[in-house]
Amino acid sequence: MLFCFYLKNHKFAIQYKTMKITILSLSENIYSTNRLIEEAESRGHQVTVVNHTKCSILVGNGSSKVIFEGENILNNADVIIPRIGYSVFKHGVAVVKEFENNGIYTTASSMGIRISQNKVTTLQKLARKDIAIPKTMFSINPDTIDEQIEYIGGAPIIIKLQEGTHGLGVILAESNKSAKSIIDTFISMDTSIMLQEFVKESNGEDIRAIVTGDTIVACMKRIGSKDDFRSNIHRGGSGQRVQLTHKEEEIVLRASKYLDLPVCGVDLIRSKRGSLLIEVNSTPGFQGMEYYTNVNVAEKIIKFIEKEYVSK
Ligand SMILES: Nc1ncnc2c1ncn2[C@@H]1O[C@H](COP(=O)(O)OP(=O)(O)O)[C@@H](O)[C@H]1O
Ligand SMILES: [Mg+2]
Repeated sequence: MLFCFYLKNHKFAIQYKTMKITILSLSENIYSTNRLIEEAESRGHQVTVVNHTKCSILVGNGSSKVIFEGENILNNADVIIPRIGYSVFKHGVAVVKEFENNGIYTTASSMGIRISQNKVTTLQKLARKDIAIPKTMFSINPDTIDEQIEYIGGAPIIIKLQEGTHGLGVILAESNKSAKSIIDTFISMDTSIMLQEFVKESNGEDIRAIVTGDTIVACMKRIGSKDDFRSNIHRGGSGQRVQLTHKEEEIVLRASKYLDLPVCGVDLIRSKRGSLLIEVNSTPGFQGMEYYTNVNVAEKIIKFIEKEYVSK
């Protein structure tokens, strides 16, 4: 169906095609999912929310099916918006892959979701593309912990869970002694961690930018609460508008492109040697962003998809 504009009895050029949009999300009551539904429906699109954890995948004989509530949903969507959280991400990636295999446009590739879910794989991929990152190391060898700490430059250092989120699992070890015992503990528990230089001058602040294609549609500085080096809003931080430098814009857009995540959130910290990428989020929540910047992020995402869908 085509969506046209009428003004004073004149029919205007076609603005966009209406689409069947499937949002893969645990619930339509999540703020960002809800906002996407609201904006998409107000522009005439048909939206279905599919809880990807309730999907079964049938593969074989050259074709496959994604079964949800007794129906194969692969042919019901023109585009998908994956909002795959941390907890069930592997299954979510498999579901997205099936849509991709079926030629359906996705705002986040299955590969990008998989890589960005882990901070180490993200940094491995992007550092190869000359994107600046904090000095980072990872190891599972309990016999070389002193060397590992030394390599990062000695305390204070950051110790992070590779797959943590919302600032949980990001630890600042202020002495070599405490760094050693924390690393030792994680290695003995078989928990994947990484060590990172502590960028003191970032001053408990980071920058979050939301990308759609080759545009940064919204960005903000997040400021940690006074007694925390972490700036996550979930940890009590707050946000404010910020102007990105040209170099920062370049990092953000290149990260989105290399990870094949047309819609994503990219996080940076500002250091003495320039801005450094710390992580990429394939399912950026935008409650804080809309609140602090007044940008209608959901509408920007839907408008972006309209353009992508027409150009396919
Ligand atoms: N290397 C670092 N130096 C200084 N602060 C950091 C560093 N890495 C992370 N932080 C702070 O901790 C916060 C959480 O770290 P991050 O890597 O983004 O983990 P999460 O996925 O849990 O948000 C960041 O937003 C930033 O404020
Ligand atoms: Mg973060």
